[in-house]
Amino acid sequence: MVGRDPEGRLELAVEGARSGHGASVDFRRTTLRGISSSPLIRACGPRGTLLDATAGLGGDSFILAAAGFSVTAVERSPLVAAVLRDGLARAAAEPRTATIAARIELREGDARTIIAASQSVWSVIYLDPMYPVKSGSALAPKPIRLVREAVGDDLDSRLLFCAAAQASCGRVVVKRPHHAESLWCEPDLVFESKLARYDTYLRQGKSLRAMAQGIES
Ligand SMILES: C[S@@+](CC[C@H](N)C(=O)[O-])C[C@H]1O[C@@H](n2cnc3c(N)ncnc32)[C@H](O)[C@@H]1O
Repeated sequence: MVGRDPEGRLELAVEGARSGHGASVDFRRTTLRGISSSPLIRACGPRGTLLDATAGLGGDSFILAAAGFSVTAVERSPLVAAVLRDGLARAAAEPRTATIAARIELREGDARTIIAASQSVWSVIYLDPMYPVKSGSALAPKPIRLVREAVGDDLDSRLLFCAAAQASCGRVVVKRPHHAESLWCEPDLVFESKLARYDTYLRQGKSLRAMAQGIES
């Protein structure tokens, strides 16, 4: 469900939770120091247009926009999209974050449909589907648990990879937990961070389209 916290922000919460105990979006808290050298930004390569096909609560979209990408952020859960839209509106009204928020266009819908219907050519398509659940692993942070509660397990993420690989884009970057296999084949490049890795598939040398056809067959 979605409610309002005591400061009036829209928040994602479990049924019956008290106001203020959910997850809202507040980009004022996002640390931007050192982002240019972060594995996420290095994986996404030269600045350009980027489709974040799994926007969630927009944390990665905001960092990518702060680094200079023009981001189209796509989220298919109406509840999650509403909370993100609320956070983006507040970021647009704050002098410190307004320029960054202006680089993010939020679209609600399934990224597979949006990619299929679009004429756009993106420099990068970025995917961060829900991680596969691993028994015995540490409890995920609350916002991630609440998003999973709202959207489920993203079991179609290989099909989303396939759609991304068939789209006009220079590279596809997939965020994965260290314990999980690649979404499809071995990536061309891997950028490691403490908590995740970024599997990077490049257009040059290898046809992403052929890889996607491999998935479909
Ligand atoms: C792990 S969260 C993404 C977290 C995000 N990177 C962040 O920084 O907040 C995955 C999100 O992708 C969304 N999603 C998964 N598949 C999608 C699709 N095909 N189209 C649009 N959204 C999708 C889910 O609804 C969920 O909100």
